[in-house]
Amino acid sequence: MDLLKQIVARAQSDKQRIVLPEAEEERTLKAADRALQDGLADIILIGNPENIRKEAEEWGLKNIDKATIVDPKNNPRCEEYAEKLAELRKKKGMTIEQARKLVTEDNLYLGCMIIKTEGADGQISGALSTTGETLRPALQIIKCAPGISCVSGAMLLLTHEKAMGNDGVIVMGDVAVTPNPTADQLAQTAHSVAGMTEPYIAMLSYSTKGSAKDAINKETGKSVYVIDKVKDAVSIAHEKYPELHVDGELQADAALVPAVATKKAPGSSVAGKANVLVVPNLEVGNIGYKLVQRLGGAVAIGPILQGIARPVNDLSRGCSVDDIYYMVAITACQAQDAKKA
Ligand code: ACO
Repeated sequence: MDLLKQIVARAQSDKQRIVLPEAEEERTLKAADRALQDGLADIILIGNPENIRKEAEEWGLKNIDKATIVDPKNNPRCEEYAEKLAELRKKKGMTIEQARKLVTEDNLYLGCMIIKTEGADGQISGALSTTGETLRPALQIIKCAPGISCVSGAMLLLTHEKAMGNDGVIVMGDVAVTPNPTADQLAQTAHSVAGMTEPYIAMLSYSTKGSAKDAINKETGKSVYVIDKVKDAVSIAHEKYPELHVDGELQADAALVPAVATKKAPGSSVAGKANVLVVPNLEVGNIGYKLVQRLGGAVAIGPILQGIARPVNDLSRGCSVDDIYYMVAITACQAQDAKKA
């Protein structure tokens, strides 16, 4: 758990402004209270102020008056946000009426507009909303960070296997965003999720260094392009990000276990010591992390979205107050980094 303490201390050292657009939701408001009490971030709550204050009283939350509350139905900046949103989405045919409706009725769009106009540094939602609902306004309004065209989501897995990863900590991506990434998008994911001090990135497949070959589709006569996609992603990553330790294609055991790596991938600079696992598609990532979490007993933190110009993060609808609290800390650290980029 030391890693979480470090993240909290870093967030506290340079406070960022974090929007919680699902503020009337119980776990969110309780996490906001704790974040305010600990000086984790300056919190902007979107919701009905009367409801928020009533709930805070009912649940014994003593710090909510330190937050800024934005009432979407009575917002002096509504017209400014609507005009700016309509302008941003003009090419996609958005009218001012549609924009006005979004910034008054959809708190997630409003939060992204607050960030876009420099009124906040990051946003977290998902206790009530789906991943798609969290992502769409961020992708449409805040857009990708420079040099990135594919956003991805990483899971921080705190496992009991201290001999693997960084003292048991493994980053896995993409587990949240792009259902069927291209080789170039996989390479971008490798670059985006590599935010560890010294990342060793394994591009995973069901083959290690040619141990299996792609099947040929009998109708088209072409490769099914599954293993080859991962190999291409490795080549692209080597070319575009020569500073990174990336290798593949590797099976998960060859990536993580030194004894297996010696047999299956001798000479690899990553095999046996990977601390970042890039999976070939969203099904593998999403199913894989949930198995590690539920069967392996790992603590799973995330998904931490990577590659958006300002951090917007997603929560599971089954999240706890703790999950939201730590996500505030992580988002604040990402916001610090985004300002330096
Ligand atoms: N990276 C960057 N930009 C993107 C990406 C991406 N991966 N995907 C879409 N966009 C952009 C589009 O180009 C578009 O930009 P534009 O409107 O300015 O041209 C904008 O985002 C919105 O695109 P839409 O077409 O409106 O949205 P879409 O329907 O493609 O949805 C989304 C995008 C929300 C990311 C979708 O792919 C999705 O739902 N992904 C799966 C999410 C999910 O369910 N994850 C699993 C659960 S998470 C968990 O369990 C931890």
